[in-house]
Amino acid sequence: MNPIARRYAGRNVPRYTSYPTAADFSTAVGPSDHETWLATLDGRQSISVYLHVPYCREICLYCGCNTKMAVRDQVVSSYRRSLEAEIGLVANLIEDVPDIARLHWGGGTPSILGLDGLTSVLSVLGRHFPLDSACEHAIELDPRYVTAELADGLAALRVTRASLGVQDVNPLVQAAIGRIQPLSTVELAARRLRAAGIENLNFDLIYGLPRQTRESVRETSALVGAMEPDRIACFGYAHLPQMKANQRRIDEAMLPSLDERIEQAELISEELVRRGYVRVGIDHFAKPNDGLALAAASGKLHRNFQGYTEDDEKVLLGLGASSISTFTQGFVQNISDVPRYIRAIEAGTLATARGCRIEGEDRRQGLIIERLMCDFAVDLAAIAPGVDFAGELSTLAPMISDGLVEINGTKLLVTQAGRPVVRIVAAAFDRYRRPQSAQFSRAV
Ligand SMILES: C[S@@+](CC[C@H](N)C(=O)[O-])C[C@H]1O[C@@H](n2cnc3c(N)ncnc32)[C@H](O)[C@@H]1O
Ligand code: SF4
Repeated sequence: MNPIARRYAGRNVPRYTSYPTAADFSTAVGPSDHETWLATLDGRQSISVYLHVPYCREICLYCGCNTKMAVRDQVVSSYRRSLEAEIGLVANLIEDVPDIARLHWGGGTPSILGLDGLTSVLSVLGRHFPLDSACEHAIELDPRYVTAELADGLAALRVTRASLGVQDVNPLVQAAIGRIQPLSTVELAARRLRAAGIENLNFDLIYGLPRQTRESVRETSALVGAMEPDRIACFGYAHLPQMKANQRRIDEAMLPSLDERIEQAELISEELVRRGYVRVGIDHFAKPNDGLALAAASGKLHRNFQGYTEDDEKVLLGLGASSISTFTQGFVQNISDVPRYIRAIEAGTLATARGCRIEGEDRRQGLIIERLMCDFAVDLAAIAPGVDFAGELSTLAPMISDGLVEINGTKLLVTQAGRPVVRIVAAAFDRYRRPQSAQFSRAV
C-alpha cells in the first residue's frame, strides 16, 4: 500500500453494506412502519428474500456473525417454526404479493436445520410467495458439514450457489481461531457440491487472523485459487471483543499489526489476480466471466448486507432474528435476541426492533456511497444535479492533496493508491459519521 494511504488505514469506518448503516438504526422506526412498508409493496416488481439461521454446532473464536451454539436440536426446530410463522405473518400484511427473484440463506449455519427443516421452510415460503423459475438460490455452508446427502438434497431444493467458509487453511492459524478444518475437508465439500450440480461456489477467506503470516496467507490463497471457486470474498478480520465475547478468547498478542494486515491483503490480491481472478470492489474476487465481475465492469455492481452483489432488486425482505429488510422507504431490523424474536412472532406481531427512514438527502448520499464502494468513482452531478458538495469536498481535501482522490469537474475518482481506503472517502458523504468511532472495524 502507498505509504500515504497507510496513514489513513487504521481509522475505524463502516463497511457501507447499506447507507444509513445499521449502526444508525433506532427505535424511531418500528413495527408500524414495517407494516406500512409491507402493505405498499408493488407486486409487479420482484423482490429478494434473506433467511437468517442464527445457530452453529460450535462457535469459532473469530466469529462476528449473529449466531449461537445449538445445544439441543429442539432449540433449532423451535426457531424454524418461528421462521415459518414469520413468513406467514409478513405475507399476510402484503396486499400485492411479489415474486421472489433471489433467495439467500445466511447465518450462522443454515444447514443446521437439516434437509427436512430447509424443505419445510421453503414449502411455507412457496405457499405465500411465487418463486421465480430462474430464482438465484444461495446458501452459506460450513465445509465441515457438507455431506454428499446434504449436497444432493440442496440441489433437489434448487439451490444454485453455495458460499463456503474457508478462512485459512494453515493448521496453526486454524488452532488459534478454534476452527480445525483441513484443506481436504474444503476440497471434499466443493467436490460434493459440484457433483450434485451446484457449480456456483463462493469461498470466504479472512486475513488479519491470529498467527497468520505473509507466507501463510499466500499459501492459503494459492491453494484456494487452485480449487477455482467462481468467487472469493476476502475480509479483514474484524476484532471487536467488546461486542463479541467469543473473540475475547483470541490472544491479541498473536494478531498481526496494521502493517502486516495491509501486506497480507495485498499478497492475497496479487496471488488471486495472478491466477486469473478479477478484483471486485474492496474485498471480492471473481472469475472474469462471472456475473459479479461482469456487473463490476459495467457499473452495475451493488452493495447489500452480504457485501457485493449483482442483485438490483429494490426490496429485500429479511426474515429471522436480526435480519434486515430494505424497502424504498427505509430499513427495518428484526430483534436479534432469539427468545425475544420467538416471543414476538408467537404473539402474532412483527419482530421489528429498529430501523431507519431513507429521507431525501440520505437517498442521494447512499447512491454516492454505493458508487464509490463499487466503482471507486462517482459523478456527483449525475446523481445530484445542482447540489453543492463543498462540505464533503473540504473533508476530502487532505486525501485530494495526498493523491488518494482526484476531482475532475463534477467527477470524483478514487485513485489506485486510494482504493484500499475507499471506506474513508465514502465516510465523507456520511452525515451520521463522526471520525474515529470505535464501534467499527479498521478500514483495512
Ligand atoms: C455465516 S459465516 C459462513 C458460513 C459458515 N457458518 C462458516 O463459517 O463456514 C459468514 C462469513 O463471515 C466471515 N466472518 C465471520 N466473522 C468474521 C470476522 N470477525 N471478521 C471478518 N469476517 C468474518 C467469515 O468469512 C465467514 O465465512
Ligand atoms: S464462522 Fe460460521 S461456523 Fe463459525 S461461528 Fe461463525 S457462523 Fe458459525
